[in-house]
Amino acid sequence: MSAGKSFWEMDEMRIITGAMVILGGATALLVVMPYMLLKEVPPPAALKPYSDIQLVGRQSYISNGCVYCHSQQPRDIAQAPDFKRGWGRASVAGDYAYDTPHLLGTMRTGPDLMNIGARQPSKDWQLGHLYQPRAYTPGSIMPSYPYLFEVRQGEAKANETVVNLPPSFAKPGQVVVARPEALALVEYLLAMDRTYPALAPLAPATDRKK
Ligand code: HEC
Repeated sequence: MSAGKSFWEMDEMRIITGAMVILGGATALLVVMPYMLLKEVPPPAALKPYSDIQLVGRQSYISNGCVYCHSQQPRDIAQAPDFKRGWGRASVAGDYAYDTPHLLGTMRTGPDLMNIGARQPSKDWQLGHLYQPRAYTPGSIMPSYPYLFEVRQGEAKANETVVNLPPSFAKPGQVVVARPEALALVEYLLAMDRTYPALAPLAPATDRKK
């Protein structure tokens, strides 16, 4: 046995040092650099922060698993025909300025929802579609969310929001009333509108809140 080790013979210190160098490099490249590049991106002037009710709806979007089937990241025309599909221009970093956590999504079982508020601004449609997707899109594989609604015989109270289903799906004598969770979720969906130009100039310095 020779006393000296060749370069390729491993010992604990070399393994640990090597692992640390690789981990450090990967962290710098995948965590630190993107953070430095994106931390100063200001929100576009046309993008409004979410209201309280929209934030409640956003939470419900998360807890109901909408993100498992819907993305929020229209792609560039060079990568995918998202613009032709009507999903909007390619998103830019500033579009997500108020999104914590972001809901980019990885699956597109359903359409991208980054601009659903601009594409389908009808509250009636959104509520009805959540109650029964197949009443609006025959053969839709989106789950219905009946627990966001209350189905009742008779009349709705004055302060309640009644879901106006297409005639073939409305049962005589029965009303479908949206629960607060459904209303908040739809407020969130209707706020999804990033149709302003991606490279719009920032608000004049005097208008900007510090
Ligand atoms: C299992 C997958 C799946 C889940 C989960 C899901 N969806 Fe969908 N969604 C779809 C599919 C497929 C469509 C297209 C057919 C249709 O319009 O129903 C769709 C369509 C939509 C549309 C209409 C989009 C357009 O461009 O017209 C909206 C809005 C929507 N979903 C919202 C939601 C919300 C909010 C949730 C969570 C409460 C949700 N979806 C959960 C699959 C899903």
